[in-house]
Amino acid sequence: MMDFSALPKAELHRHLEGSLRLRSLFEIARAEQLTLPAPTAEHFRALVQVRQHEPFTAENFLSKFRVLRLFYRSPEIIQRLTAEVVADAAADNIRYLELRFTPVALTRARGFSLYEVMDWVTTSAHEAARQHGVVLGLIVSVNRHEPPGLAAEVAELAASFRTRGVVGLDLAGDESRYPAAPFAPIFREARQAGLHITVHAGEWGPAANVAEAIESLHAERIGHGIRVLEDPHAMALARERGVAFEVCPTSNYQSGVVPTLREHPLPKMLAAGLRVTLNTDDPSISGIDLSHEFRLAHEVMGIGRNGLRQMTLTALDAAFLSSGHRAALRQAFHKAWQDAGETPP
Ligand code: ADE
Ligand code: ZN
Repeated sequence: MMDFSALPKAELHRHLEGSLRLRSLFEIARAEQLTLPAPTAEHFRALVQVRQHEPFTAENFLSKFRVLRLFYRSPEIIQRLTAEVVADAAADNIRYLELRFTPVALTRARGFSLYEVMDWVTTSAHEAARQHGVVLGLIVSVNRHEPPGLAAEVAELAASFRTRGVVGLDLAGDESRYPAAPFAPIFREARQAGLHITVHAGEWGPAANVAEAIESLHAERIGHGIRVLEDPHAMALARERGVAFEVCPTSNYQSGVVPTLREHPLPKMLAAGLRVTLNTDDPSISGIDLSHEFRLAHEVMGIGRNGLRQMTLTALDAAFLSSGHRAALRQAFHKAWQDAGETPP
């Protein structure tokens, strides 16, 4: 049996708001006297985590984020939660992390400004990354189901935070009901300002959304994108442009995209020659870590050691990094693999 937690790992798709420690949320609820319909710890858990008996739907999955928005009540809380997210990634031996966060979500509970929450998150995330020896990039997310005007404001701020470690802009949210087109001008400007682009598509919506994300939003990477296999045009486009896919198996299962993990299209995507990376999406909402997803890929989907290492190498290749930093990181991974007794591919 392989010890996946000992492997050095890289992750490109993890949402801050979906990675919060349950214990801390519980403490915050008590300290802040939040009134929640949760008489017991188990009820509380069900508010912020997908449980086995719940409907595995996108709507249920997204409902957890609405509850979580109640918790971001002070700079100290936001900084604490952020630092813990980075610490938890480090504890799972993630050496390179691109952590995405949704500034609008963090402003809501107390009417903080977008600038304030971006200041708090970037500062504490980088401080924690330094402490734990994680190489960190931050991605700013905007939601499709929220107004494009708000997204424009967030995107402009994100560009001004490039000097503070923001490397990319992401479009997230409800893909089944909200098209990407209204966000195209915002993403064009962000790209011109030097931000990298990743877009959630082909998860809760059809393969055509993957093509739209690549053509209209110039996505370099696609969040999920697992339905790309349904459309030869989207497949050809992804191959031609070298688009990388940020695949998150448990998230797909829990939000009802795949009926069982055994039927997850990850092996088919690899076999089709797509550039595939393995990620958690929302580890605390799903009750997993990245090692868990590696174990699933290996034990349930039959992906061998080479395939697993290839996904980590692809993550390093598709990371939103300058070429100098990428080369240094590749070298660090090769050394860590050697130290762990693994032969690099
Ligand atoms: N925000 C957080 N997780 C998400 C997902 N899986 N799809 C779209 N938006 C999200
Ligand atoms: Zn996501």
